[in-house]
Amino acid sequence: MAKRDFLSLLDFSPEELDYLIRRARQFREMHAKGEIYQPLVGKVGALILQMHSTRTRVAFEAGLAQLGGHCINIGSTGSQLSRGEPVEDMARVLSEMVDIVMVRTLSQTDIETLATNSTIPVINAMSSFLHPCQLLADVQAFEELRGSIRGRTVAFVGDGYNMCHSYINAAKQWGFYLKIACPKNYEPDRDLLASTNNAELVDTPQEAVDGADLVVTDVWSSMGHEGQESDRRATFAPYQINESLLDLAAKEVMFMHCLPAHRGEEISETLLDDPRSVAFHEAGNRLHSQKALIEFLLLGEIA
Ligand code: CP
Repeated sequence: MAKRDFLSLLDFSPEELDYLIRRARQFREMHAKGEIYQPLVGKVGALILQMHSTRTRVAFEAGLAQLGGHCINIGSTGSQLSRGEPVEDMARVLSEMVDIVMVRTLSQTDIETLATNSTIPVINAMSSFLHPCQLLADVQAFEELRGSIRGRTVAFVGDGYNMCHSYINAAKQWGFYLKIACPKNYEPDRDLLASTNNAELVDTPQEAVDGADLVVTDVWSSMGHEGQESDRRATFAPYQINESLLDLAAKEVMFMHCLPAHRGEEISETLLDDPRSVAFHEAGNRLHSQKALIEFLLLGEIA
């Protein structure tokens, strides 16, 4: 089987992405029933996290263990990368020893360099540009709770950063319509936005949310924006998602947040407890969708 990487949602066809969602839903059901399924005995993954993580880390570590494999968490200082070993050399060494690499680092270019120089699959566990693993979990949650996302309307309100970029790619791949509201100078990448007719910038959060089936936001200061928190809090204040804003959306709207959330900033203090919020179901899906992804990259389509 030729090696594949998952650096962006655009690396997979829409049919392959649909397969991953179906398989992730099966993994969620198997997990609920306590079914043991261990096709990856003897397989090892290396997790390189150059930034903090709870969900991504636990999902990869628990997921590989549940599939019968093992995950080495190299962390941010646990390898020679932090002492200047070239990414290209790290890629060739890991390819000699393990079966798959998952990497979180600010630079999308570094992730691409790692993948180009690896003979084993590489997964983007988040960069400053994209967070494709999160979108697998989000689309899974939408389809489990509301049916197909194709043709639906999604609102992204907040920072036009990695989550917004991945929603633009998701709109293209899954065929939904994305309305984006961001403060001036915090818009998503212009070329990425221009690459699809399925996403548009609108002027206000109210316009974005109006009639939406799904409303999404992310923190106002992501990793990589350290030192900008105070300025960003002031700029983004009109973009908070709260219960009144959600009232403008479709009757059956769901709210998602990739977490961690800052209550009182991008969301109201109480929004995660609102029945329209599915943020914790969404977080749980990180486990199941990342298991589906690893299985696909190592074994191909199973069912
Ligand atoms: N949503 C997400 O990627 O969470 P972590 O940063 O905790 O991995």
